[in-house]
Amino acid sequence: MLYIGIDLGTSAVKLILMDENGKIHNTVSCKYPIFYPHSGWSEQNPEDWYNQTIKGISELTADADKTRIAGISCGGQMHGLVILDENDRVIRPAILWNDGRTAAETDYLNNVIGKQKLSQYTANIAFSGFTAPKILWLKNNEPENYKRIRKIMLPKDYIAYKLSGAFCTDYSDASGMLLLDVKNRRWSKEMCSICGVDESQLPKLYESYEKVGNILPGLAKQLGLSDNVIIAAGAGDNAAAAIGTGTVGNGRCNISLGTSGTIFISSDSFRVDENNALHSFAHADGHYHLMGCMLSAAACNKWWLEEILQTNDYSAEQSRIKNLGENHVFFLPYLMGERSPWNNPSARGTFTGLTMDSSRADITQAVLEGVSFAVRDMYEFAKRTGVSLSSTMICGGGAKSPLWRKMITNILNMRVDVPVSEEGPSMGAAMLAMVACGEYKTVDEAAQAIVKVAKSEEPDPELVKKYEARYQQFKTIYPAMKEVFGIISAQ
Ligand code: XUL
Repeated sequence: MLYIGIDLGTSAVKLILMDENGKIHNTVSCKYPIFYPHSGWSEQNPEDWYNQTIKGISELTADADKTRIAGISCGGQMHGLVILDENDRVIRPAILWNDGRTAAETDYLNNVIGKQKLSQYTANIAFSGFTAPKILWLKNNEPENYKRIRKIMLPKDYIAYKLSGAFCTDYSDASGMLLLDVKNRRWSKEMCSICGVDESQLPKLYESYEKVGNILPGLAKQLGLSDNVIIAAGAGDNAAAAIGTGTVGNGRCNISLGTSGTIFISSDSFRVDENNALHSFAHADGHYHLMGCMLSAAACNKWWLEEILQTNDYSAEQSRIKNLGENHVFFLPYLMGERSPWNNPSARGTFTGLTMDSSRADITQAVLEGVSFAVRDMYEFAKRTGVSLSSTMICGGGAKSPLWRKMITNILNMRVDVPVSEEGPSMGAAMLAMVACGEYKTVDEAAQAIVKVAKSEEPDPELVKKYEARYQQFKTIYPAMKEVFGIISAQ
């Protein structure tokens, strides 16, 4: 049979058509705009997501035997606030995961309600991109919109709702709302009352691999699909990517270099990072994970090359980089503020160490290294929780660069495995649909059958040494700049 996996990303929706053996029959990507109405804010129109997804499904399946399509599932950008009124109309543009407008509400939750209580109710503290602070922001700043809310959902849940009519979410994505009691996999009554949310406004909770319904008959007809097609709950994009890279079970790691950058560590059992630098979320395999998320990863490289250097030739720029481990320029990648590990929406991107002989290649290198050092920052916090890793999987647009993978390998000093299919979240979503359709009994079984490693990058001791020295220098820059970020963001 055939399965459609959807990755509702920040720049585009990516779709994959895959059979039960993991063979990819087609992939399609459809872009949509992102709006920055104020500095540090970011929004998208849920209708754009839906229209592009439907266009994507049509293109994806144009040459396929549509009678073989059995299931659809969606992984998506996490934390975004989508609100619908009593007529099921979208009330305002979705406020995204990398939006930093909720500094006051985040501060209220962490310092007035208190981190200890939040952690007790949800296993997490508040970060400005999380959904609950956004609901409070709406209450404080757009009371008319707030009063009209009948349904609160996450980005990929809007797609599942339009496809199936089921008002649903899954535990992995719901974890990032700060409304879920992650440990016990149920909505937190305390958090709902703090945010003025009635449970009837929240979607029904499912495991990611469960069926939530069938495709709506009218839509099935429009797309030429059978109305027996099953819709699975799906997952947050990082949990979906973890499935797509085989990061299931205990103590496995996946690094994603997409618009955001994440380090995702799967765990059989529930655990909390006492420093609250990493999120403690449910996993799409039915268990749990720890995750650090930096807000701008491959987005920094895209910004530097496309916006500043005005080029799309990424490999030409990277081919000029010759002195790995010896660059004198440093870059802090906080172009949208930073979440993990600093939880500081006022942090900003910064170059330092520039001299008269700094070249274009040095600065391009500094951008790639700055992102890699920031991944290492998150890994350092993971180590403090007792995590010890000797290898990781890698995925996302940035992971396609051999040079960037080499930096990550040597800065983290661990083997980096590249999967045969780098589709990550969309592939994970297709695998969740397979489990929902009964093709595999468990997510673990699907991962073992489908995910294969294509190649690995091993650390080079000389380079590890050089990068260790550079990381020790990098580490000093954020603490030195923190006060400056506070001053410049106050203006
Ligand atoms: C994870 C996060 C991002 C988005 C990006 O917590 O905010 O990775 O899911 O798609």
